[in-house]
Amino acid sequence: MSGSVRVIAPAKINWTLEVLHKRPDGYHELRSVLQTIDLRDVITLRDAAEISVELVGPEVGALAGAPPESNLAYRAALALSRRSGGGRGVRITIDKRVPVAAGLGGGSSDAAAVLRGLNRMWGLGESRENLAELAGEVGSDPPFFVFGGTALISGRGEQVEPLPDAVAPPILLATPPQDERGEKTAAMFAALGPDAYTAGDVTLGVREALAAGRAIVDDELQNVFERVTASMQPQTEIAMEALRAQGYVPHLCGAGPSFFVLFSGAGTEEALSERIRELGFEPRATRATTRRSATAVRSL
Ligand code: C5P
Repeated sequence: MSGSVRVIAPAKINWTLEVLHKRPDGYHELRSVLQTIDLRDVITLRDAAEISVELVGPEVGALAGAPPESNLAYRAALALSRRSGGGRGVRITIDKRVPVAAGLGGGSSDAAAVLRGLNRMWGLGESRENLAELAGEVGSDPPFFVFGGTALISGRGEQVEPLPDAVAPPILLATPPQDERGEKTAAMFAALGPDAYTAGDVTLGVREALAAGRAIVDDELQNVFERVTASMQPQTEIAMEALRAQGYVPHLCGAGPSFFVLFSGAGTEEALSERIRELGFEPRATRATTRRSATAVRSL
């Protein structure tokens, strides 16, 4: 099978993010409930003799000029080509709309979207579980994006338990300017001491709420990396503190430096967006997306 397909690669936020302990292999054992949102890259896959990646769109920024082999989407295509006997090519065009290195999982989502799209384009018939396993070879976060929607992840991130689609208020996302971002996940993990480790109960609580069909509420959310934003990401800490002082409840996205605020009251969106802009961040209204819409593949 061949032709061209289009896939979306949604960003994510974390409803919870807990670290249980540091493992002998150097990774951290996680419990986290992840959620895809309707901010997304759009990826087009076309038949080609070799694997190549072309980046276009408003958020290419720091990725311009990076070697293709460092792109997770490229690595995902190579891994799937090898698994299916090798020698297949594809021209991958990524319309970058998700801010890079912002804690939103954009690069990991691109990798998973390429696996979903190529599975269709090459007619491989691989199960989601197989694609997730392959995604785990590319990084800790890509397996979640093979499933999308709302899911609980554990292990180093590669174990994914799909959960019922979350009922959640609208989300206002705040991302810092590009020069305040950068690859910092490893440093954020390294900054966590054992006193930051928890048992995973907050995450299990959210799983229970979702299973019962209860809506997401601020009080039930937690992100361990908020303990180290003050020392590691001062701009984020200043902005989140300023919003807390006004009665808002900001939550860090992944390892930062973006954060989000749930908003419900009519008329709050504009005032909050304005405040976020004053604090030097870019506001974007977004929503949680369902598993079905997060993983659609369209033949062109
Ligand atoms: O797996 P990935 O390459 O995305 O992880 C980047 C880095 O983040 C790892 O090298 C590791 O330092 C850290 N990490 C961790 N525990 C995890 C996931 C990532 O310590 N569960």
